[in-house]
Parts: sequence; structure tokens; C-alpha cells
Amino acid sequence: MKSRNTAWTDPSFEQITETFIHEYLEERKTLVSQPVCRPAGRKPEHTGISEKGRPLEDVVRELKEEIFSFGCETCHPRFLGFVPGTASCYSWLGDIMTSAYNRHAGSLANFPQGCQIESDLIRWLCDKAGFPDTAGGLFVSGGSMANLTALTIARDRLPEHDWHRGTAYVSEQTHSSVAKGLHIIGIPSDRIRCIPTDKHFQMSSALLEQAITEDLEQGLLPFAVIASAGTTNTGSIDPFSETAAICRRYHLWMHVDGSFGASVLLSGRKGLLKGIELADSLSWDAHKWLFQTYGCGMVLVRDRADMVNSFHAHPEYLKDIDADEEYMNPWNIGPELTRPARGIKLWLTLQTMGSDAVASGIEHGFELAEYAEQLLRRYPEIEIVSPAQLAVINFRFNPGRLTEEEKDSLNLRISRQIISSGYAGVFTTELNGKKVLRLCTIHPETTKEDIRNTIFLLKEYCQKLLPASGSIPA
Ligand SMILES: Cc1ncc(COP(=O)(O)O)c(C=O)c1O
Repeated sequence: MKSRNTAWTDPSFEQITETFIHEYLEERKTLVSQPVCRPAGRKPEHTGISEKGRPLEDVVRELKEEIFSFGCETCHPRFLGFVPGTASCYSWLGDIMTSAYNRHAGSLANFPQGCQIESDLIRWLCDKAGFPDTAGGLFVSGGSMANLTALTIARDRLPEHDWHRGTAYVSEQTHSSVAKGLHIIGIPSDRIRCIPTDKHFQMSSALLEQAITEDLEQGLLPFAVIASAGTTNTGSIDPFSETAAICRRYHLWMHVDGSFGASVLLSGRKGLLKGIELADSLSWDAHKWLFQTYGCGMVLVRDRADMVNSFHAHPEYLKDIDADEEYMNPWNIGPELTRPARGIKLWLTLQTMGSDAVASGIEHGFELAEYAEQLLRRYPEIEIVSPAQLAVINFRFNPGRLTEEEKDSLNLRISRQIISSGYAGVFTTELNGKKVLRLCTIHPETTKEDIRNTIFLLKEYCQKLLPASGSIPA
């Protein structure tokens, strides 16, 4: 009998896979003593594809040594840039299992128990958000997809012949993925109003309402406000109750981008998000502050019928496997057909750790940012530009004798130096037109000592870059 032609018969596969997992888990134990970022010296050697292939052992070794060992280790406890990747070991295992079984989680019929787990977990998250019984949601690849999915649903409430008048409202601090999502659904930049923020970087409700009334007078059709639960730059939270009142008054959809901050709903500080329960939809990223490997976001919608309305498709070849409960089939409530069960790793994490341990992991992030603020306030040459909010703090070295441009350059160079030292990943952002240093402290394994040493090092670099004359070497 002819044997099956399958790569699974590669005689080296089992041994190499086992060795990889063993070595990887050993390496993780010393991750904290490895550099946070390693610049890549040269282009990878094998970018072309050969006709005959190569031994698995060589390819795996190359991946480990030449590909994965360069760039930023965003899961490192001292990677404090962006919103870091904080993947827990449980999430990692859930990811491996989901990939290993490779089940098609587009419908209940294909993967009944997996879809049920995801659906029940979504219900649990909706309860945490304070959403009503009508709510539903879906696991998607991340915050950008969650925003796009929610904005599509919001846009679909407009009659199609009015889409060209649809106008959306964001703040100066709204994440760029929202503008991208609006672009994809056909809202051009001249119909996106960017509402100024106040001194706490929160959207101004008065200016929001003014912009809506002005647009109505111009014959435009305001349809959605996008508020933030934890902006990326500063962790600021928009005034949800006021935003919701405006949305109700003018019949607008209220979307909250909680990609970063919605996880606070699982913590003792959930009161900070008061009013979020009034939103029509919510984005929430588990690969941010719920300690998941990448590719795990959620979109929650107040009325799941709106999801079905936007995404239900009836291809004839799927009719015989469509279940009665339309909204239980992920392919009916989001843009994807074939999809992995992204929620399984979060389920595994929560089942294993329990929600209390997750809550203390989130609390730890708050405490570290507050601790960083306390330390930074001791130094007169440091200006706190935005105090600790959620797990983010922004500051800058501000030697009075320098011009604004020189201060920008100084802070940028301090960031570059600490990154190239390998000790910590501290990046810059811009607030009120100034370049500032930003720490995002959501990693549950980051210690106070890590924060203290990082700040000392930043100060040291500042001193080195700032000779007595005050001018900064180019
Ligand atoms: C507030 C906010 N929204 C959306 C996103 C985009 O999320 P993702 O990178 O998962 O697509 C981010 C990413 O940092 C974010 O901080």
C-alpha cells in the first residue's frame, strides 16, 4: 500500500519539537537577564524559497538564532514601551493547544464545545462591563479588529444612501486604529472630527456636543462617538456618562475603545470606568492587560442582534451546518469565516489562575506606575507631563537652560541610549507638542527594583548627555 504523503512522517519532527519546547522553557527562566532589545545586524540569510527544502533541524535552529533573537522582547519585564506583551505561561499553552488541534471555530457545528466556551466567556466579560442580557461579542485578533468590527456595526445602522454623510467623533488621544477602521468602512478623514482633550487628556464633552451640532447644521449625519477607556499615550479615561448622554440626545452610537484599559473592569479599581456600561460597543484586548499571547482581542456589543445584522451571510454551501442560534456562530457575528478559537487561551488562563489572581496582576500595574511617579517627583529636573493613570506615566528631563527643541532631542537620546543598553525598553511619545518619556508598567513580573534601576539609568544617561555647558552633543 502506498504510504500517505505527509510532512508528519518527517523522522526528525518529534525529537526536534520536544527539544525546542524544552530549550524554550529553559530560556524563559533567564529572560530577565537577557537584553530587552537586540538590533538585527543583517538581513536573514534564507529569504528565498528553495525547490527541495532543507532539514528541519537547520531551519528551526536558524529561526531561533537568526530570527527570533533580534528585535524587541516585548514580553520582557523591563520592556516598558507601547502596551507591552505580557503573555502568561497559561496563555502560551492555550495557544499551543489551539494551534495543535487547529479546530475551525467559525461555527458551533464544527467545534461545539470550543464555541460554547468562547460564548460563555464573552457573556462573563459582558457582565463585567455591565452590559444587558441582549449583549454579545466575539474574539477577534486584537484591538484594531475589535474597533473595525464595532465601527462597521455602527455604520450599518445608517441607511446605505446616507453613508456619504456619516460623521464620526474621536479625541486627540484616540488610538490610530480607529481612524484606520473608519477609513476602511468608508468614512474619509474630512468626516472624522478630532475633539480636543482637556488638561487630563480626556475628551471635552462641551466641544464634542458643539462639533455634533455644527455638523448637523451643515447637513452631515453624526453617527458614532469613539471614547477611550485608557488611551495609549497617557492611560486617560474619557467621561463616559457625559458622552453617553450626548450620544442618546443625538442618537449616536457610543463605542468605547478599551483595548488597553477595559481590563480594569476585572480589578478592584473598576469604579474608574463608571459609565462604560452605557456604551453600545466595547473593544477589549486580552493580549494587553489580560496577559495573553498576541492575537486575542474581544469586541462586545450591547445588542448582539446588531452583530448579526452586519455580518450574517447565507452562502448556500454552509446552509446545512448553520445552527438555530445565529449569534452563537462566530461567522455570523464578525468579518471572519474560518478562525481559530482565540478565546481558549484566555479561558485556560482564567480557569487556572482564577479571576482574583488576574485582578492582582492588574493592580500590580497600577502600583508600579504610582511608584514610578513617586520616585520621579523627587528630582527637580524631571517634569511629570502626565501623572500615573492606569499603568502609564509620562515625564521628561527638563533642564531649564535648554530650548524646547534641545529638550526634545535630549529626551529622545536618553530613550535611545537605554534601549541600546539592553537594560530596559523606554520609548518616547509626544504630549502637548513635547517629546516625553513614557513608561507602561502592566507586566506582572516587573518589580519595583526594575523601575528604580530604570529611572536611575535614565538619570545617568541624562547626566552624560548634558555636559556642564548645557548643550547637547549632536
Ligand atoms: C487604546 C488602543 N486601541 C487600539 C489598539 C490597537 O490594538 P491592536 O494592536 O491589538 O490591534 C491599541 C494598541 O496599543 C491601543 O492601545
